[in-house]
Amino acid sequence: MKLDHDSEKMFPMFDEVGSPFWEKRGVSRRDFMKFCATMTAALSLPAAMIPKVAEALESDGRPSVIWLEFQSCTGDTEALLRASSPTVAEIVLDVLSLDYSETIMAAAGHLAEEARGKILKERAGKYIVVVEGSIPIGENSAYCCIGGRSALEIARELCSNALATIAVGTCASYGGLPAAAPNPTGAVGVGEAVPGITLVNLPGCPVNTDNLVATIVHFLTFGRLPAVDGKGRPLFAYGKKIHDNCERRSHFDAGQYVEAWGDQGHRKGHCLYKMGCKGPATFHNCPIQKYNEKTGWPVGSGHGCVGCSEPAFWDSMSPFYRRLPNVPGFGIEATADKIGLGLVAAAAAGFGIHGALNALRKDKEPEDSTREG
Ligand code: SF4
Ligand code: F3S
Repeated sequence: MKLDHDSEKMFPMFDEVGSPFWEKRGVSRRDFMKFCATMTAALSLPAAMIPKVAEALESDGRPSVIWLEFQSCTGDTEALLRASSPTVAEIVLDVLSLDYSETIMAAAGHLAEEARGKILKERAGKYIVVVEGSIPIGENSAYCCIGGRSALEIARELCSNALATIAVGTCASYGGLPAAAPNPTGAVGVGEAVPGITLVNLPGCPVNTDNLVATIVHFLTFGRLPAVDGKGRPLFAYGKKIHDNCERRSHFDAGQYVEAWGDQGHRKGHCLYKMGCKGPATFHNCPIQKYNEKTGWPVGSGHGCVGCSEPAFWDSMSPFYRRLPNVPGFGIEATADKIGLGLVAAAAAGFGIHGALNALRKDKEPEDSTREG
């Protein structure tokens, strides 16, 4: 890989990456191909595509990546850095050239700002921007400034000149927790702050690293971002509801529910619907990809899904321990899709889900008691 600007000297771990790069990271050919197979499967591509994915990852011309962090808890960076199997983060970071990341780069202050400016000047239209955290647009964007410039100004400049932008986590995608009512900073996602850019949203709290890696692999393999749904999320990762792939689904269908935390049903792994699980209204591949190196995910750990990959989830999916009304198989008439849309619409209208749920309950299911956790 050719190193041709000063910023790369700040990242020794990316220096002198030769071919095959994975070998220098202590990854065997077998593990590299296993990684390619995993990514191919994650993208729902046929196994015949594995060699093409491997070829794309091994080729030269890897794009620069600028990782911007605005209003966030750094959870998405943490998720990436904690990944392994087999050293996935290393493979991805070597496949790319992570030239700017305030959290992990050695440089700071003016040096860091200069590095970012140099990439913009010399590689305009050739780099990928990853955004973590929401962008506050209230009070002239004064709530989040870096190096004397607002997050909005930085995002506009860098995302508008990028090959593509990837919003990681729910905050960067839709505003997330900082945007929860009353949204004091006017937090929004990248798509709203900088409309018209080439963007893919990878919501989740935090982003699932496998989905981020697969999105990047798709881009490197095909030269474009994956197909997305109406909320800008790649269909390979957000095309199905949690409820459709949940390991507790058979219990839902059989009418076996947890009625109280720690009860017999909870101990037996029964369905968490009555405890407020929002899986029937949430689109994400958590039951398949899981977290923490595929060891677990919220519902698998015994807690209901809180819908963290949906826009405005903090407002629209709460109270988190109150069950969704009228889910097919349990409730009466509405589809889960309609309920999901209804929840979001209620939040957007400033009505609040509490009121929305009460209204729905009042109208449609007087016989079912609801509960707070
Ligand atoms: Fe799984 Fe939740 Fe659906 Fe029950 S309601 S099957 S716990 S996603
Ligand atoms: Fe979030 Fe629900 Fe997955 S809470 S991590 S979308 S199981």
